[in-house]
Amino acid sequence: MADENLNQADPPYLHLLSAFLAMEPTDYLISLSRVCGGGSVTERVQRFIWSHCISESDEKFHAPYLKNFLKKLICEAELNGGPVLDQIYELYAHFMTSLMDGVVGKETARVNKCISFIFPNECFQLSSCPKSRKLMIPLQCSLNMLAGDTGCSVWPSSLYLSEFILSFPELFSNKSCFEVGSGVGLVGICLAHVKASEVILSDGDMSTLANMKLNLESNHLSIGTDIQKTIEDPKKSQVKCIYLPWESALKEQLQSFSPDIILGADVIYDPVCLPHLVRVLDTLLNQTKPYSKEQNENREASSLENTCTSDNLKDAKQRNGDNGNGLEAFLGKSERNGASGLESRKGPLALIASVIRNIDTFDYFLGLIDKASLTVTDITETLQPMNLLPYMKSYNRSEIRLFTVSCKHSS
Ligand SMILES: C[S@@+](CC[C@H](N)C(=O)[O-])C[C@H]1O[C@@H](n2cnc3c(N)ncnc32)[C@H](O)[C@@H]1O
Repeated sequence: MADENLNQADPPYLHLLSAFLAMEPTDYLISLSRVCGGGSVTERVQRFIWSHCISESDEKFHAPYLKNFLKKLICEAELNGGPVLDQIYELYAHFMTSLMDGVVGKETARVNKCISFIFPNECFQLSSCPKSRKLMIPLQCSLNMLAGDTGCSVWPSSLYLSEFILSFPELFSNKSCFEVGSGVGLVGICLAHVKASEVILSDGDMSTLANMKLNLESNHLSIGTDIQKTIEDPKKSQVKCIYLPWESALKEQLQSFSPDIILGADVIYDPVCLPHLVRVLDTLLNQTKPYSKEQNENREASSLENTCTSDNLKDAKQRNGDNGNGLEAFLGKSERNGASGLESRKGPLALIASVIRNIDTFDYFLGLIDKASLTVTDITETLQPMNLLPYMKSYNRSEIRLFTVSCKHSS
């Protein structure tokens, strides 16, 4: 049969498979299937869907979603007068008798998605690019973005921040990174992938934290302690998960961390929480890192390493047509020093990605930042990540802004 000729690395098929695993809306799957078939969902495309999407998905894959996709697939093929594979009919008939209608949107359902970051061919030199050019991150998520399950959904800003981390790995490797409102843990998994020296994820919701830990485990990351790290592998990046409600976070607790980079994705939305979030950012940004002699030597070594890999940043600048302002904003005017620049910043830096859904809430955030003697720079236009999620039509990257926040005296 022609199945052997169907290559799942061919872009249209790769996009269809990735969209299926990411549980993109089923209408998008149909339109990607049409692209594969040159305008219609041919028998050949159905065979690909059967052998690479359906047969390969494990028993934990969300059956109501599959049922809905099969229904649309059959309608589409029949509408065009084309054949439908027997296996597809049979599986749909099985779901018809075994699954009740309306389960698809059940609010409490947890599903297993897989986010595939697809690196373009020319990116083989990026340290974050895996050999297969595809980085797959399985995640357990909620189907319900609101009502108590906010942190168990993947929000668009964390997709953007993940693309940013994977596009500029040298800005994060060998850095201590601390994320606020980490949700499912996607950003942390990307930070571990680019070898941040320390990854601390935090959230103020217990069930989100439990789900996040599960996701770290399914991505083969250990949720270690310092002692474990020393015994196992001192170079292995460590992921810690901490319960950190911004309202009750104590200054002393925050001062026990001294991150180089603080990250936050889609955390600016609730005006009630914002003064507390800004206080947390302010305390973390005002930390002076106490470096031991050994750490200073490591930093010099990593600075040299970064000098060697800074070609990636130059490539990125060319890609973005960046005149240097974005990088300078991010790096604290130190890129000319040769290394990635973060070494010579006077203090830590926060990277906040956000969809501005309510301008008043965002202006309130800016006012609080100003009162706290912090400064915000919008680097969205000047430092753009690669599009590593080309198949994800539900993700509108143009609605996301990326900001740096730093202390006025350190920039
Ligand atoms: C909109 S979700 C974004 C989650 C994740 N960063 C993403 O982009 O996918 C906001 C996250 O912030 C957390 N959060 C909201 N208010 C918080 C608070 N007051 N203290 C700590 N975490 C909070 C939520 O539990 C949730 O995980």
